Order: sequence, then C-alpha cells, then structure tokens
Amino acid sequence: MEHPAPSTRASRRSWRAITLVALGLVAALGLAACGDTVGYTQATGDRIRGKELFQQHCGSCHTLRDAGTTGTIGPDLDYAFVQSRIDGLGEDTILQVVRGQIAYPVTAPSTGAPGMPADIVVGQAADDVAVYVASVAGLDASGQPMNPASPPTPTPPGGGTDGGALFASAGCAACHVLAAAGATGTVGPNLDETQPSKELALDRITNGRGGMPAFEGQLSDAQIEAVATFVAENAGT
Ligand code: HEC
Ligand code: HEC
Repeated sequence: MEHPAPSTRASRRSWRAITLVALGLVAALGLAACGDTVGYTQATGDRIRGKELFQQHCGSCHTLRDAGTTGTIGPDLDYAFVQSRIDGLGEDTILQVVRGQIAYPVTAPSTGAPGMPADIVVGQAADDVAVYVASVAGLDASGQPMNPASPPTPTPPGGGTDGGALFASAGCAACHVLAAAGATGTVGPNLDETQPSKELALDRITNGRGGMPAFEGQLSDAQIEAVATFVAENAGT
C-alpha cells in the first residue's frame, strides 16, 4: 500500500489547477454551443447509481471512503479533494473537475506511472459518477471536510463473501470480460476466453501480476476464495 510520493501529489494538484483554469477559459469563450458539454454545463445525475458505478468501475484504482473502495493505483480521491473542501471550493467546481477527468484523464503519465483510461463511463453514467464523487469526496459522514491528517479507514463494500457481488464491488469488471457478471472490461484478459482454473485465479487475485493489482489486504482470504471460485465456475458459461 504505497502512497504517492509528495512530488507526484504536488504535480497532480498543479495539474488540477490547470484544469480549473482551462475549464474557466472554455466557459469564458462560450464554447457551450459546440455541443460537447463535458466540464461546462452542470451535469445532473443520480448519486445512488453513481455510487454503484463508482464501485464497479473506479474503486479498483481509487480509495473513496463513502464508497468503501480501497484501490491504490490512482490517487486517494478523499485526499485529492479535501484541501479544495477546506478552501471552500464549491461542489459544482469539484463536479466539473471529476467529469473532466473521466473524459480527459492523463492516460500515460510522462513519469511512466500507470495512467487512467479515458471514458471508462460515458454520457449519463459519467454524469452520475461525477455527481456522486463531488457530493462525497473529502467529506466525512457529517458532511464536514475530513481531517487530512487522519481520514477514516475505508470499509470495503460487500463485507460478505458473495463472489458475484465481490466481482462487481472490487472493480474486477472494469478490467475483465465475464459474461456471468455482465462485465465488459478490456484492460485484462477476457476471462470467458482464458477460463482460468481456481488455483490460477487465487494466485492472480492474491498477488496480482503486470497490470493486475494484488487484492491481498483489500479483500479478506474468504472473499478472495469466494471471488476466485465465482470466476472459475462461471468463466465461459
Ligand atoms: C486503471 C486505474 C484507474 C481507474 C479504473 C480509474 N482511475 Fe482515476 N486515476 C487513475 C490514475 C493513475 C490517476 C492519476 C493520473 C491522472 O491524474 O490522470 C487518476 C486520477 C483521477 C482523478 C484526479 C485526482 C487528482 O488528484 O486530481 C480523478 C478525479 C479520478 N481519477 C476519478 C476517477 C473516476 C471517477 C473513475 C471511474 C469512472 C476512475 N478515476 C477510474 C487511475 C484510475
Ligand atoms: C486494473 C485492471 C485489473 C483489475 C481491477 C483486475 N484485473 Fe485481473 N488481470 C488484469 C491483467 C492486466 C491481467 C493479466 C496479468 C498477467 O498475466 O500478466 C489479469 C489477470 C487476471 C486473471 C488470470 C487470467 C488468465 O487466464 O491468465 C484472473 C483470474 C483475474 N485477473 C481475475 C481478476 C479478479 C477476480 C479481479 C477482481 C478481484 C481482477 N482480476 C481485477 C487486470 C485487472
């Protein structure tokens, strides 16, 4: 569980500042008429749906306490926005930053660090996710900015051992095709095609490899067992 080096955080912060300026320019130039409303027109969305989508598509890479997700490939989104909250930046502005990030992420950072794929969710689904994230990132349960020095520990979703539910909530679907789970991710192998054994699935989920994150510590042993069993039993069906 590595936290990003301070320099990386600082550069992300400055990148965000640039985005804000850029969004401001777009607004000032009145480009709304061009039809691409991303980051300009206020998105309206369904927070409940947005939370589900976040858990399915974003949580494998991002920690966000309200969603209970614990991914560490991308920045911790509570940390990313807590300073903006303390500075009193409005929710609308945060919403535009998140919506812009979904459409225009840094897909291949010059540092060689893993990037964020573009358009993981699009259209209304992207609006739903952005509205949801903007309503919770950096805030504690009472709606106050978190203490950046000691944010609460995330509680992983689906504390249970339903393999199918875990496949969705742990973010596997963002990277893998598995018809039985309705999953269509293309970052990792198509599990219906490779039909991995339970042993292989246990090893990959526990230890990760290449672009596959390790889930040891994020999921309990029983949860890893459950999701590996689910994959082995359902791949190719
Ligand atoms: C495969 C991993 C991955 C997935 C999946 C992913 N992200 Fe990211 N995300 C990253 C990385 C890496 C960065 C840092 C690089 C960058 O800023 O583009 C990032 C950056 C961000 C930032 C900017 C944070 C900051 O410090 O300014 C936001 C907001 C964000 N992601 C939201 C999302 C949302 C919402 C989703 C789901 C629709 C998502 N991400 C899915 C990897 C991912
Ligand atoms: C950020 C993308 C990503 C996420 C999230 C992810 N995987 Fe993977 N997965 C990969 C990649 C890439 C590989 C190929 C790794 C290699 O062999 O080098 C892989 C490999 C696998 C394999 C081995 C497939 C084979 O036949 O070789 C299994 C099984 C697997 N993943 C299951 C899961 C499960 C279950 C989850 C959720 C708990 C998950 N993955 C989450 C990207 C991901």
